[in-house]
Amino acid sequence: MALQRFPLCRRDELERSRVVTRWLNDLRDEVTAVLLDGRILARSSVCPRFAGEFTVDLAARRFRCKWHAWEFDIESGRCVSNGFKGCLRRYETDEQDGMIAVLYDG
Ligand code: FES
Repeated sequence: MALQRFPLCRRDELERSRVVTRWLNDLRDEVTAVLLDGRILARSSVCPRFAGEFTVDLAARRFRCKWHAWEFDIESGRCVSNGFKGCLRRYETDEQDGMIAVLYDG
């Protein structure tokens, strides 16, 4: 399947807030983009346990689920708070004319 682009946010919005979360209906996923060390990282932000909502701690580089406090490393997407072996979906991004998009080939 061909790589598709799904617009997420404008770069200036991400630079202002450093964290942007959007539901992308085409992907059936909520995606959070963070600006970390000048890089844009985009991860699924739906908790794999029971789909809880995350808070983002950029200093600790972690997502933390509001429901039962599982924590995930933003960089790798791996769970770091218990023995859960799963990983958050990681998305590649690109930028055209100031618009950041998620790339997906599923
Ligand atoms: S739903 Fe995320 S830790 Fe329970």
